[in-house]
Amino acid sequence: MTLPATTRIPYGGDYNPEQWPEEVWEQDYRLFDAARIDTVTLGVFDWALTQPAEDVYDFTLLDRIVERAAAQGRRICLATGTGAHPPWLARRYPEVTRVDFEGRRHRFGQRHNSCPSSPAFRRLSTELARRVARRYAGNPAVLAWHVGNEYGGACYCELCAAGFRDWLRERYGTLDALNTAWYTTFWAHTFTDWAEIEPPSALTEHWRGPDHTAFQGITLDYLRFMSEAMLTNFRDESAAIRESSPDLPITTNFMGMYRPIDYHRWAPYLDFASWDNYPPDDDSAARMALTHDLMRGLKDGQPFWLMEQTPSFTACRDVNPLKRPGLMRLWSWQAVAHGADAVLFFQMRASRGASEKYHGAVIGHAGRSDTRVFREVAELGAELERLGGATLGARTPARVALLFDWDSWWALEISDGPSRLVRYQDVVQAYHRAIWEAGADLDVVPVTADLSGYDVVVAPALHMVKGDLAERLAAVARRGGTVVTTFLSGRVDEHDQAFLADVPGPLAPLMGVRIDEWDARGPEVVNPVRLGTGPDTVEVASRLLFELVIPTGAEVVGEYRSDFYAGTPAVTRNAYGAGHGWYVAAGLDQAGVSWVLRRVLERHDLLGPYPDLPALETAVRVAPDGTRLTFLLNHDAEPVTVPARVTGVELLSGDRVIAGEPVRLPGRGVLLIRQGGQ
Ligand code: GLA
Ligand code: ZN
Repeated sequence: MTLPATTRIPYGGDYNPEQWPEEVWEQDYRLFDAARIDTVTLGVFDWALTQPAEDVYDFTLLDRIVERAAAQGRRICLATGTGAHPPWLARRYPEVTRVDFEGRRHRFGQRHNSCPSSPAFRRLSTELARRVARRYAGNPAVLAWHVGNEYGGACYCELCAAGFRDWLRERYGTLDALNTAWYTTFWAHTFTDWAEIEPPSALTEHWRGPDHTAFQGITLDYLRFMSEAMLTNFRDESAAIRESSPDLPITTNFMGMYRPIDYHRWAPYLDFASWDNYPPDDDSAARMALTHDLMRGLKDGQPFWLMEQTPSFTACRDVNPLKRPGLMRLWSWQAVAHGADAVLFFQMRASRGASEKYHGAVIGHAGRSDTRVFREVAELGAELERLGGATLGARTPARVALLFDWDSWWALEISDGPSRLVRYQDVVQAYHRAIWEAGADLDVVPVTADLSGYDVVVAPALHMVKGDLAERLAAVARRGGTVVTTFLSGRVDEHDQAFLADVPGPLAPLMGVRIDEWDARGPEVVNPVRLGTGPDTVEVASRLLFELVIPTGAEVVGEYRSDFYAGTPAVTRNAYGAGHGWYVAAGLDQAGVSWVLRRVLERHDLLGPYPDLPALETAVRVAPDGTRLTFLLNHDAEPVTVPARVTGVELLSGDRVIAGEPVRLPGRGVLLIRQGGQ
């Protein structure tokens, strides 16, 4: 099963009519009509209404809400409603609330707050999902199921401890194997009974918070276990839905680059991926591009849903900037350009009270349609309606892959040494940004992905190398491709134990280098790196981490300029088979990373159509019938005129575009060109 079947991009979002009297619903649907809203997500936080007591299910209100949406011709993404548990549940079963990292048992409050291992939570959340599905599966307005909401966080209670021990027994079989994997001869940790094992928390292995642990292997396994425990909750509810709804697709809303949950492990259990996009500021285009690509990579390139975005501002940050005019439209199209087959908002009407009363909404507290935000929402609705289904199911034809790996992220950031300042997302973002600015389409894929279709594979901070990955990367180079990796790659195995070999471990033959020493410094220390030779030489900055490279076959592409290792390699390229392995040993600045990636992309003729206009984003999607769709997105507030590179029809205006002739994009403008014709 794949995506919900629709004839246009579903447009709408989270809608909570249970917060309002029915007269307001009337007004809402009139406004939804005006904005061409065709899809609503219902019931995300309705548990206390649908089940007011353990033995009482009451669907009266949800029935009315669903009936009204259906009668008004909307499609429904229907939630199971288990993202927040009701007060009676916490009171009756105190085990349902979580124990935090400091060991404090929480009491009723907030949301996303249920212990994933609690039998009461598992039983009752599953039963609620079963009943919701049974009741509404036959309603033709229901398009998809939305399980829970933004799974995340962690619990450290006794039930989770017991679950962790079971999970470990399953994974390791024997205590000997576990002791070996966790390296427990260090600091007298040899376990002689499974019951001795504690969740790693502030009371046990940690100090100074969740990233500082005495035993990386234990913490890493707890992260894996917690991610899987919550996956079990999702799977429980999905299975209950399936009993009465064999055909409707199921999803849950992810959060992009969210560290606690390994979305790659979850993805096979979702019919389609969806995510909530809340960028921190106006300047997030590159970061969002990466996150969309990551979400598209979850289901092997299958389109995803943009499940939530704010039309204007969020409320959860200390400072919540307003999206400038045109930005919501531009970012919605950016999502579509990267594979979104739905554009949905949080939220349709602003809640009157509680923590999200100042969160942006399509309809504000005054219920007006003559606001700027509503107008922009309505204009985008009209545009999406005119576009119809042209983009649905379209795929990204990428020749470049970037590896993203939760295990490497975890291992790198819970490591003592070499540097707490090297953050996985920063490194990944710099490499993704370089490719994105150069205009090459790229996939962000798990380390288990099939790499045989890519010309270039970029593996930033690939700290952990598992299974046959090193061999599959070598195969990319052998057949003429290029593999790029960086400092702090190839360091540890799946248990976070160092390879008993030269760094970068199993990647060393491909990279043709050996690292014996590395130097970490604060952000104020810059070591200039000279890249290239002859007239093309440039000097860039490097910071935070400086590995000292001994080439064992690689040629030197860049050298450090200062300190006792001045004149030694900082960037190398190794001829391997018919291709290359590039090793970037220093924390290069963006200019340096871009210099490296452009050389790589040029070699494979993969630079995009406007590589020197980084604010002009290009993205291609290929529709199921083979039609090529080229998106041009101007992230600058100023207009830009460029020669068209393709001939076809610009679908948002209907204008003809002819290759070689100029096309103009207004500030924050979008063009969507369907290639074809002369
Ligand atoms: C998340 C949640 C929503 C809402 C928004 C606000 O994405 O899923 O319920 O809280 O954040 O930004
Ligand atoms: Zn728990």
